[in-house]
Amino acid sequence: MSTTLFNLQRDHITHLAHAYADIMAHQGFDSLAIYSGHASVHFADDHTPTFQTYGHFMHWAGLADVQHSWLIIQPDERPQLYLYAPADFWHLPTRLPEEPWVTAFDVHLCSNKITPQLTGRAAIIGDIASLTLNTQQANSVDKQPTALINALDELRMFKTPYEIACLREANRLAMAGHQATQAAFIGASSELDIQLAYLAASRQRESAVPYQNIIGLNDHAGVLHYQHYDLNSPKQRFSLLVDAGRRYRGYCADITRTYAGPDAPAEFGELVTAMHGLKDELVKAVAPEVSFLELHEQMHHHLGKILVAHDLFKGTVEQAVAEGVTRAFCPHGLGHSLGLQVHDVAGLRHPDGTPSPAPESHPALRLTRTLRPGMVVTIEPGLYFINMLLAPLRNTSLPINWKLVDQLSPCGGIRIEDNVVVTESGFANLTP
Ligand code: GLY
Ligand code: MN
Ligand code: MN
Repeated sequence: MSTTLFNLQRDHITHLAHAYADIMAHQGFDSLAIYSGHASVHFADDHTPTFQTYGHFMHWAGLADVQHSWLIIQPDERPQLYLYAPADFWHLPTRLPEEPWVTAFDVHLCSNKITPQLTGRAAIIGDIASLTLNTQQANSVDKQPTALINALDELRMFKTPYEIACLREANRLAMAGHQATQAAFIGASSELDIQLAYLAASRQRESAVPYQNIIGLNDHAGVLHYQHYDLNSPKQRFSLLVDAGRRYRGYCADITRTYAGPDAPAEFGELVTAMHGLKDELVKAVAPEVSFLELHEQMHHHLGKILVAHDLFKGTVEQAVAEGVTRAFCPHGLGHSLGLQVHDVAGLRHPDGTPSPAPESHPALRLTRTLRPGMVVTIEPGLYFINMLLAPLRNTSLPINWKLVDQLSPCGGIRIEDNVVVTESGFANLTP
């Protein structure tokens, strides 16, 4: 760990200690138990799916795979970490990293699964549904108190310099993977081989990715969350869309790139270039006090311009937006908050925790906040040829250039996604 990151992490822990003390005092809690969570076995089996530690646990201890463990926070006392570390010859014993958070905590290695001892007015948060808890010492115990969780979620919305450094490093590592996918595409690899090239270059095993990488060749690029990897390469290569990430100390990168292949119509390559330009323009618009919803609407206006400029729509930009044409070409939101979770918490709430849902006209938007310094968001405009969404428009008089749509459909679609931090004066793009 570099000296800089070491100092930043120490400051991050101090910041959390103060913020938790304020939140708990405000809400009248003397102690808080955060459960890491644990993986459950597949039905009638003894194997578990991959697991991700609860975000509020990771916020303190940046380990994404801790299970059956507890973190106890009591203001004015050192955090207590009860780390499940069974004496077990089947697995490598739990080892702690040499990082500042470890020395800031009292660490108890537990050979058994324990129940935390809580005092005073206590709260427990985390995935505790399957646990039998013995919390007799506490005067009262609130399980999953909404107001407390909302306040802790709100805290996570604003990243400390340590968290931003981790997100930047996650981006750097992910980008090495993305470069390898481009090379693999040029080498006519299959989706599976492109995925393997990504994992190798970004130095991670598949179970460690923050979300299932989307590797879509040709029309698969138009399946928003395409979930397979074809083993064979297609005969023709129109396009490749790669939406792939990386964790670093729990923090996630979420990057998308799209490439035109040798068999794509020239118009597709021009559209990819235009979408890079749109992404850059939207990144530059990120600044304090900007409404993310307005930025999303700006994306639709620019998409309208691209549809008109590239002859996909023969009406006006205003008509393309007003008649829902841009929404048929891009059904998802402009982006979301990013942090310990890829779709991070509190995106659809006001700062006081009350709901701020996506408007009916843009139901897939995951972030309706006004941007403030410290927030980290994705900017991911897209343009797709999705038959299910475009088919209803074919029976209308809307001046869509169906001939060109049909020519471009085998290319699937385009998404370009960067990760951006809101700074005091504007933005910093974390994606190299
Ligand atoms: N990779 C999921 C997303 O972009 O939101
Ligand atoms: Mn993504
Ligand atoms: Mn994203």
